[in-house]
Amino acid sequence: MGESMAFHSTDRRERYHELWPQLYALTCQESDLIANMANAAAALRQAFGFFWVGFYLVRGQELVLGPFQGSVACTRIAHGRGVCGTAWAERRSICVEDVDQFPGHIACSSESRSEVVVPICVDGSVVAVLDIDSDRLSDFDAVDVEELQHFATMASGWFSTEEHNHEVHPNLVNRLPC
Ligand code: SME
Repeated sequence: MGESMAFHSTDRRERYHELWPQLYALTCQESDLIANMANAAAALRQAFGFFWVGFYLVRGQELVLGPFQGSVACTRIAHGRGVCGTAWAERRSICVEDVDQFPGHIACSSESRSEVVVPICVDGSVVAVLDIDSDRLSDFDAVDVEELQHFATMASGWFSTEEHNHEVHPNLVNRLPC
């Protein structure tokens, strides 16, 4: 396929619904984890123009920076530290309306104003987190969390095997082209 994406809706949830099948088409025949995370970061940033989109991967007792789109970022985050380390430790998505109000927030850029972090789990264990930063206050809400959790379910398939074995959330199935 040609590696391009198109978006028309100005409604955020609708735009997620435009994105998921295109992202699935882009990744469903690729078994390489890094390649799929890289395209997912690019696709999410292209779809919404977010300030920073990327992955942190669980490596022992730390998160280590993975594929991302945006400014250079901190490479390691300890378990339970910052928004990412807290989402990992508590195995839950965290939506931060104002990063200055989040105790222990790790500021990779002073331009980041709000943030959403969603864990990606395999067999009940967090293997990575998706981190998205916005340069606008209160840019994320329950719609983002819900949609990004669907994405995390799809992405967990990228971690679970080297083979082509993508787990897809039931809500996405009827929108997927392959
Ligand atoms: N703000 C994150 C650190 C990662 S950067 O935003 C890319 C945190 O507090 O965990």
